[in-house]
Amino acid sequence: MSNQPSTQYEVRGAVAVVTLTNPPVNGLGHALRVGIVEGLDRALADPKVTALVITGTDRAFSGGADVREFGTPKSGWEPNLGNVIKAIEGSSKPVVAAIAGVALGGGLELALGAHFRVAKADAQLGLPEVKLGLLPGAGGTQRLPRLVGLETALNMIVSGAPVPAAKFAGTPLLDAIIDGDLVDGAVKFAEKAVADKLPLKRVRDLKVKQPNAEAFLQFARNTVGAVSKNFPAPLKCVEAVAASVGKSFDEGLKTERDLFLGLMQTPESRALRHIFQAERAASKISDVPEDTPIRDIKSVGIIGAGTMGGGIAMSFINAGIPVVLLEAKQEALDKGLATIRKNYESSLKKGKITQAKLDERLALITPTLSYDGFKNVDLAIEAVFESIEVKETVFKTLDEVMKPGSILASNTSALNLDQIAAFTKRPQDVIGLHFFSPANVMRLLEVVRGAKTGKDVLATSMQLAKKIKKIAVVSGVCDGFIGNRIVARYGAAANEALNAGASPQQIDKALEKFGLAMGIYRMGDLAGLDIGYAGRKRRKEANPDAYIPIVADRLAEAGRFGQKTGAGFYKYEAGKRDPIPDPAVDQMITDFRKERGITPRKVSDEEIVERAIFAMVNEGARILEEGIAQRASDIDIVYLNGYGFPAHRGGPMLYADQVGLPNVIRALKRFAAEPGSDAKFWTPAPLLVKLAEEGKSFN
Ligand SMILES: NC(=O)c1ccc[n+]([C@@H]2O[C@H](COP(=O)([O-])OP(=O)(O)OC[C@H]3O[C@@H](n4cnc5c(N)ncnc54)[C@H](O)[C@@H]3O)[C@@H](O)[C@H]2O)c1
Repeated sequence: MSNQPSTQYEVRGAVAVVTLTNPPVNGLGHALRVGIVEGLDRALADPKVTALVITGTDRAFSGGADVREFGTPKSGWEPNLGNVIKAIEGSSKPVVAAIAGVALGGGLELALGAHFRVAKADAQLGLPEVKLGLLPGAGGTQRLPRLVGLETALNMIVSGAPVPAAKFAGTPLLDAIIDGDLVDGAVKFAEKAVADKLPLKRVRDLKVKQPNAEAFLQFARNTVGAVSKNFPAPLKCVEAVAASVGKSFDEGLKTERDLFLGLMQTPESRALRHIFQAERAASKISDVPEDTPIRDIKSVGIIGAGTMGGGIAMSFINAGIPVVLLEAKQEALDKGLATIRKNYESSLKKGKITQAKLDERLALITPTLSYDGFKNVDLAIEAVFESIEVKETVFKTLDEVMKPGSILASNTSALNLDQIAAFTKRPQDVIGLHFFSPANVMRLLEVVRGAKTGKDVLATSMQLAKKIKKIAVVSGVCDGFIGNRIVARYGAAANEALNAGASPQQIDKALEKFGLAMGIYRMGDLAGLDIGYAGRKRRKEANPDAYIPIVADRLAEAGRFGQKTGAGFYKYEAGKRDPIPDPAVDQMITDFRKERGITPRKVSDEEIVERAIFAMVNEGARILEEGIAQRASDIDIVYLNGYGFPAHRGGPMLYADQVGLPNVIRALKRFAAEPGSDAKFWTPAPLLVKLAEEGKSFN
């Protein structure tokens, strides 16, 4: 952090101007809060000063709380934001808030404490606290309804969405929209307010205008309650806003405070705040400095126009980056292009893009059957069949044709990236870019760092991920990287529950009740059971003794590959995706248990969830220990964005923290001790044990 003061003070004529200068977004950290009050006191003490303007930069009046102070004692140091606002509102000289850029959260609450507000038409005003599982805690729920009415205030507070200032022109929220220089305009406004002896508008003294407020609030409770099932904050927002109608201002503030403090303690808010910070942390690589030189990526070559290649191509052209798309055969190229076109046409039909945009995007693709077009691209991404032989041919060819300084990437799901890099004479330029299916939709990108991958190649990939709107997480090289390696454990744990006596339906329902987007067997039916089976068959042939059969093998052997064959763990009616429990599957499971000498028992939903999630956590701990993931929160980001893990749980590692690591260990030990269980599988990872012994957590 710089040692620059967080505020500047100047006097223009008879008007003092306090400018907030805490980059990047004027987060309301302690120094800034002190600076505002000092500026106010200086203005009040100076007899030549008749009014005060508080303003920020072009980018931000203030973005709200300073995230760097989150969870530190500084966030609570006096003056706290509520007291800063109280001081402003109580000023005997008029205070004008002059807003450009964003005024969000505490930033908008600060402006609501002023007697007058002026803004640029395109400034964005909002109270986004609900997105962190909270509510505005510095008077926003009491002041905003007094200025814009109950309905508008409630919409803004419950959705957290910002609104352009222009929409509030002519409302008590904004006294003027300023064209031209904001501070000049604000100073003129202040001078006129003094000359005209305008009364100081203290928002706290206003009344909320809303006919039938109680009926409206009841309607709001019903609708908000119905759409926010896993999150308590939206309904608490309604309660806080309701207090602005039914109670005095001070009582309303107290209600807001109590509700805010209550939400702060909820696991859901902790999860959302964790995700907010985890997303920011993920882009940082400890040994790759922020100023590492970046390679310029102006065009991309993609090899393979199948499921992944097509989606990856769309991700780049959506960001305006031209793509050379290469296939082995004309037929496959035509098919790949047709799928891309079909995807855009479906967006066109839904009104999501225009015909002109569609044409523009498709024109960015150069289809080809020859590597000639790769001579000039800055980055190549290989998405051919998952076979090391095929990848070898591709990478040797890329090494021959691509210009020096270009990056060679593989989308492999499980092959060894270091082996792939060794096919070239430039392993420092080779990296894994592991997209998730459908690649044009899924936000997650695992950036796989090989033993020799250059730091600038890594830095370039992380920056490129942002450009194509992906959230990138760095993974080291191992079988399955972070995501698929952990998911394998999750699958194995579910299979144990299945063997022990649970049905696929019970397991899916228990996991969905926990919050996962889709239970594991429904997910398997969607993805296709043939893929996993092919992998297991290969491993069985390579090492027959280590092979442990599972029920899914029997299904695949019977041609039940999931939705695409109309049957998997469930059956499906033609053209429909609703899973229907199938007695034939129950029989296969019963036979399987008999052959293995298992007497089925009752398995509780709780046990299913504990087995599945704690198996993930245990593998996550190993991944951390081995340095495959840089930090626990990166693992959470992978699961939240790539595998449908519920946001209100904050990811598997945060969930473990919230349950308490000693409790996770107790459960793992219980599973290990069970007769017939795979004790090695359930042995707690050393890092998990160490953290628990030290009374620490993952995050
Ligand atoms: N499908 C997924 O969910 C998924 C997810 C992440 C990563 N991956 C990985 O992405 C890669 C591609 O998977 P996919 O699902 O898109 O497979 P796919 O079979 O749908 O597509 C592969 C394409 O590569 C083409 N191809 C094969 N050899 C080629 C060659 N030598 N030159 C040019 N084109 C060639 C094929 O014609 C085919 O169109 C694999 O490494 C896979 O492990 C897949």
